[in-house]
Amino acid sequence: MLLENKIALVTAAGSGIGQAGAQIMARNGAMVLVTDRDGQRADETAKMIQAEGGLCESACLDVTADSDISNIVEKVMASHGRLDVLHSHAGIQVEGTVEQIDVDGFDASWAINVRAHFMLIKSVLGMMREAGGGSIIVTASNSGVLYDREMVAYATSKHACVAMVKQIAADYAAHNIRVNALCPGWIDTPFNDPFTRQMGGREALLDYVSSAIPMRRFGNVEEIAEAILFLASSKSSFMTGQAFVVDGGEAI
Ligand SMILES: NC(=O)c1ccc[n+]([C@@H]2O[C@H](COP(=O)([O-])OP(=O)(O)OC[C@H]3O[C@@H](n4cnc5c(N)ncnc54)[C@H](O)[C@@H]3O)[C@@H](O)[C@H]2O)c1
Repeated sequence: MLLENKIALVTAAGSGIGQAGAQIMARNGAMVLVTDRDGQRADETAKMIQAEGGLCESACLDVTADSDISNIVEKVMASHGRLDVLHSHAGIQVEGTVEQIDVDGFDASWAINVRAHFMLIKSVLGMMREAGGGSIIVTASNSGVLYDREMVAYATSKHACVAMVKQIAADYAAHNIRVNALCPGWIDTPFNDPFTRQMGGREALLDYVSSAIPMRRFGNVEEIAEAILFLASSKSSFMTGQAFVVDGGEAI
């Protein structure tokens, strides 16, 4: 199995892409520490993994709370003594132009889409270096490589996230620590519920996706999970500092 005996930590694993990523890593042999701001959701993901015979633990982790991050890293260290994979996945989307969005929305986007990844990575690098390497996957978005409309906080913070990933990758490549940005396009999860409302319902959103995306459909979480497995495992052993876009062709 691709991740046999590996220890993985996933944030925002209580739903959507984070959950599917945690599941596929467990199916491939990893012991996955499943975390989410909503502890109940983290537990539900853990139960799903355990029901398939996978190895996992769950914990409540709000990535915007520095104390939660240090607690979880201490827990990993105490229980396992090392971390092989970090999937730092949590993020938010606050829509609007620069005139429409208030500064709180901009600050919140920066706090979770950039600062929280910085704090998580900063907290695990020592452990990974000590163990001789690791793989860090940071969920950005294809909005980190292209420009949307009326999404100034999202596009700015996701571009910054990709830039930070590239810089950290360059700084730590010699320690065999690989750092890549996962850049999904439209994936069918509750993350897009605000758009569905904004566009006037599910049908309108499906119309938009089928006209705007070259592959004329949403991606699903299983398709992104495959990308997560690739980035987490030795299948991508010579790949670091990349924005890995999986978006049905939208960024072309
Ligand atoms: N779904 C998409 O179309 C899409 C596309 C591109 C990028 N993304 C990125 O993927 C991530 C989430 O997407 P998803 O589709 O998995 O969403 P989702 O709505 O299915 O799940 C989000 C999860 O994040 C958790 N969460 C929210 N704030 C948190 C915090 N502060 N700390 C810890 N957990 C928190 C929620 O409790 C929830 O379980 C974001 O970074 C988003 O930018 C999603």
